[in-house]
Amino acid sequence: MSSTATRHARAVHLVARPTGLPTADQFVFVDDELPPLAEGSALVENAYLSVDPYMLGMMEDADGGNELNAPMEGRTVGLVVESRSAALPVGTAVIHRRGWRTHAVVRREDVRVLPDLPGVPLSAHLGVLGGTGLSAYVGLSRIAELTAGEDVFISAAAGGVGTAAGQLARLLGARRVIGSAGSPAKTAYLTEQLGFDAAFDYHDGPVADLLAAAAPDGIHVYLDNVGGEHLAAAISSMRDYGRIAWCGAISQYVTEPPAAPHNLFELVGRSIRLEGFLVRNHMDAQEELYDLLGPHLASGRVVSPETVLDGFDRTVEAFLGVFAGANTGKMMVRL
Ligand SMILES: NC(=O)c1ccc[n+]([C@@H]2O[C@H](COP(=O)([O-])OP(=O)(O)OC[C@H]3O[C@@H](n4cnc5c(N)ncnc54)[C@H](OP(=O)(O)O)[C@@H]3O)[C@@H](O)[C@H]2O)c1
Repeated sequence: MSSTATRHARAVHLVARPTGLPTADQFVFVDDELPPLAEGSALVENAYLSVDPYMLGMMEDADGGNELNAPMEGRTVGLVVESRSAALPVGTAVIHRRGWRTHAVVRREDVRVLPDLPGVPLSAHLGVLGGTGLSAYVGLSRIAELTAGEDVFISAAAGGVGTAAGQLARLLGARRVIGSAGSPAKTAYLTEQLGFDAAFDYHDGPVADLLAAAAPDGIHVYLDNVGGEHLAAAISSMRDYGRIAWCGAISQYVTEPPAAPHNLFELVGRSIRLEGFLVRNHMDAQEELYDLLGPHLASGRVVSPETVLDGFDRTVEAFLGVFAGANTGKMMVRL
């Protein structure tokens, strides 16, 4: 379909660089009329926007971060509503990185066309099937090389990566899956609904003590989303030849400089491997993830937990909520 119609679109622009967490006045909502589509391009109406912890670094970083007076880049799923590209017919569901706006003009090379997985909602492509789930999968399978029968600890376990990781650990054959989270409601959710064997609220005491009680035999694998005290605690509880997949350090994103674990040298004595990773270097695992999770999502064995804020106007609120623990599962905005 070709179109010369203009369309009204909205975007949230970052207008000032924060130091630490941003405030609402560092963003403005901008209204625009989209120009007619050029040959080879398509108009996507965004349906769900992802808000992610890494975006804080993109806001702060003047060299290489997000541009000022422009929307935040970020994963977004939506449907093609107008097209001058034969490769992107109207109705195609896509994921792309032109986030924090209601509409995006894209070319075929800017998007990944989403597979049609029966019974799987579009939002799951930002959650357990998206970069979030892929981070959990890559961390556990490729980085930590989790094998059947091993015991796994996951921090920020009630978040996007964490809820995916708990379910994936189970599918990959973990013996005992332990999670930490920031409230009793979240720990109850993990053990009562998501299949974790144990979970603790990290506010309830020193993390090392809470983890030692939850994992009396120690842990083989740690997927670290939090860093700081959590990482030190996991090192203390690691068994010989344990592996730590370092995914993130959300407890330290607003701390300068981030503190190294006091017990790092224990890695040597127990031959523990600590390896960081970026999911964007493992996009070739995406098809594996679809193959693994598609049938389980359809059957209901695996779920894609999400906290959805309704309305584009709530994008900044949703982003800040991630740092305040406002989400269970993947935080996103529904347009
Ligand atoms: N390496 C990669 O390529 C990659 C890709 C994706 C994500 N990540 C990282 O993975 C981690 C999780 O990301 P996500 O998108 O899934 O976010 P998320 O876990 O859905 O949301 C962040 C959660 O972190 C917890 N949190 C916030 N401040 C904390 C603190 N000071 N101490 C402990 N927990 C805290 C909050 O839950 P509570 O209520 O439990 O505190 C919050 O819900 C982040 O560190 C992120 O940067 C890395």
